Amino acid sequence: MPATPSTAKLTIGDREIELPLIRGTEGEVAIDVRRLRAEMGVITYDPGFGNTGSCLSKVTFLNGEEGVLRYAGYPIEQLAENSHFLEVAWLLFYQELPTAKQLAAFEHEVKYHTMVHEDLKRFFSSLPKAGHPMAICAATVGALSTFYEEVKYDDPAEERWAAAVRLLAKMPTIAAYSYKHSVGQPFMYPRNDLPYSANALHMMFATPCEQYTPDPVAVKALDLLLILHADHEQNCSTSTVRTVGSSLANMFASVSAGISALWGPLHGGANQKVIEMLISIHDGERTAREFMDLAKDKNSGVRLMGFGHRVYRNYDPRAKILKKACHELLARTGTANPLLEIALELEAIALQDSYFVERKLYPNVDFYSGIIYQALNIPIDMFTVFFALGRLPGWISQWLEFHRDPDSRINRPRQVYQGHTMRDYKPIEAR
Ligand code: CMC
Repeated sequence: MPATPSTAKLTIGDREIELPLIRGTEGEVAIDVRRLRAEMGVITYDPGFGNTGSCLSKVTFLNGEEGVLRYAGYPIEQLAENSHFLEVAWLLFYQELPTAKQLAAFEHEVKYHTMVHEDLKRFFSSLPKAGHPMAICAATVGALSTFYEEVKYDDPAEERWAAAVRLLAKMPTIAAYSYKHSVGQPFMYPRNDLPYSANALHMMFATPCEQYTPDPVAVKALDLLLILHADHEQNCSTSTVRTVGSSLANMFASVSAGISALWGPLHGGANQKVIEMLISIHDGERTAREFMDLAKDKNSGVRLMGFGHRVYRNYDPRAKILKKACHELLARTGTANPLLEIALELEAIALQDSYFVERKLYPNVDFYSGIIYQALNIPIDMFTVFFALGRLPGWISQWLEFHRDPDSRINRPRQVYQGHTMRDYKPIEAR
């Protein structure tokens, strides 16, 4: 058997460099190009970073060709079936499942940080009611740094953990307040007797006027969504969180930037766009087939939202779980949703159509998630906020990992400059 190579050789003209190979535990191989520019005077060019490993990580593994997603080794299907969101958060933070004692202590800690400072409530009223809740959440999470400015240099790990717990605990409160602000209802305080997802629904939908008991079916469905969104290795928002954190900006500032990155329609904002697309078909703007024709036409500017993925060239395992969950939830609540029928029709057309088949475009996590959010009565512009809530443990664990990694440096890509070469300044009258 040939020996496994440990280096790669790159030849440029008559010069050669031997670069080390780095291997991941699941077989990924990377060429370590760190010496490339210093020794050969060249850099790599990879717009969109499709071939660039920006870090070594132990948090999440995904194999896009085979449609595999695992958090610290545990298959997403098993976690979806057996775990719950706070346990998954701990798993992502420590890359180990907690013991009963660890989990109880963690849940207790999160519960007792759910309230936000009373002064922060006034922040919401200064923002327009019609403002998008993702903008409100990004601003509010950024503003949290003003309440927790002090950094204990003698124990930064403890300080980072406190920030992690505060973020995880306060994000449902912030999310719900952004919704309550938009509808002009009073903010509901968190209830520490409720588990995490139930408390989030309580703060969204309870009012001071009458008793509200979160529906256990809805709580379970929300918890499932949060688990499925919890991490997805070096996606756009997580890379943003790492990049902002690489300048030694604090965790709140880094996560606020991550929320903004997630908002875009090519990333987490796709869940809102999917449901808007399904509604437009339902309302007769165009048929499913007409929409598919537009999505295939590069000049139309239309994409089939919730389809395609940078990394998956197979069915996104999260979409598989969510499709099943949609059917189960609607059956259990006894409600029909015509949008699910339209989504199924679009998927059936796409999976038969050579355009989508050749490009290996399959449903991603956002294709079916909106139908579940709708069944939970979550307003459309809050869908991406709940995605952000789910993604928090991923952002935090990747931020913490970045700060533990001795190889970490400030993130600063290079460029290939293709503009004007040196020229002399011209006075305005000579231009
Ligand atoms: N509809 C129509 N064509 C598509 C789509 C789509 N949804 N996605 C990709 N393509 C085409 C694309 O035009 C390209 O065609 P060609 O090779 O002829 O130029 C080919 O498929 C490869 O796509 P790509 O643009 O190289 O893919 P990418 O890795 O740059 O982009 C993506 C990935 C997710 C941004 C893209 O698939 C997309 O825009 N999907 C719709 C938005 C969406 O659902 N986003 C959520 C992603 S999953 C959750 C998350 O990350 O938050």
